[in-house]
Amino acid sequence: MSKTVLITGANAGIGLKTAELLVQQGHHVILACRNPEKAEQAKQQLQRAGSGQVDLVQLDLNSLSKVSEAAEQVLKNYDQIDVLINNAGLISQQLDSTEDGYEKHFGVNYLGHYLWTMKLLPLLKKTPEGRIIHLSSIAHWGGSIQPEKFSAVNNKRYIMFPSYGSSKLQNLLFSNHLARQLKGSTVTSNAMHPGVVDSELYRQLPKFQYMFVKLALIPPSKPAEKLVQMALSDSWKNKNGEYASVQTPALTSAKSKDVQLAQKLYDLSYELVKEYL
Ligand SMILES: NC(=O)c1ccc[n+]([C@@H]2O[C@H](COP(=O)([O-])OP(=O)(O)OC[C@H]3O[C@@H](n4cnc5c(N)ncnc54)[C@H](OP(=O)(O)O)[C@@H]3O)[C@@H](O)[C@H]2O)c1
Repeated sequence: MSKTVLITGANAGIGLKTAELLVQQGHHVILACRNPEKAEQAKQQLQRAGSGQVDLVQLDLNSLSKVSEAAEQVLKNYDQIDVLINNAGLISQQLDSTEDGYEKHFGVNYLGHYLWTMKLLPLLKKTPEGRIIHLSSIAHWGGSIQPEKFSAVNNKRYIMFPSYGSSKLQNLLFSNHLARQLKGSTVTSNAMHPGVVDSELYRQLPKFQYMFVKLALIPPSKPAEKLVQMALSDSWKNKNGEYASVQTPALTSAKSKDVQLAQKLYDLSYELVKEYL
């Protein structure tokens, strides 16, 4: 039976490859992308690749009001969503700010997805088996939760990797917290590290850093196959609060398992987005 899968950042890299595998199997994908031209190109590419329906929704995670508008569109146009894959993400070499003044990794990789997920949960609850998958990373090991660094203005002594790692820790803490909240419901929440993947993510890295990353790169098809499995297979039907990893063992940090830290992050995030809920 055809499932409806909503993927953020689906015009490139892991998201695009995952969408391709899904349409090849006849599933309905909704690509949530910020750039309409790139989104249209991805749609045409996918329509040539398989028989599944391909829809677009414009989503810019850089702005909470735009995230809210995009989620309202989805709520208006669809009765249910079977799978939500929170995939969009970036690495920012420089300290940068979202439209709302948040540090870019925190705002785009995490807080925008927090709002998006909270708004779309009712659609996932309408399907017999709803699944949410969060793209975290092995980089979460280098992350920490420092609320004073959420704002771009207060973000003193910015360093790219810990900042990116913190957003990936936030993704994982959110996944784990949702899993606990959703226990006993028809919706599950799981996270994954996709491996070190040959995608556009590393476009901002200096050449010498990219040289090292390049040695470990795997194709986007590897995490995409895993994501399709997590999204649709019976073996993932009853898994909730898990962390899968491609390429390396699925080991998670002590911080990512800290229940109180997850609750604190969830509560703080709720305060930051509540006017849009
Ligand atoms: N690649 C890796 O080695 C690796 C490792 C660990 C985790 N991950 C995670 O995997 C996920 C996918 O990464 P990828 O490697 O496939 O990267 P990618 O090729 O750079 O794709 C990222 C996607 O996110 C979108 N995006 C960026 N900013 C956005 C915004 N403000 N609003 C909406 N969409 C936005 C991009 O859109 P544009 O095309 O318009 O920029 C693109 O579609 C990310 O969450 C990343 O953190 C990747």
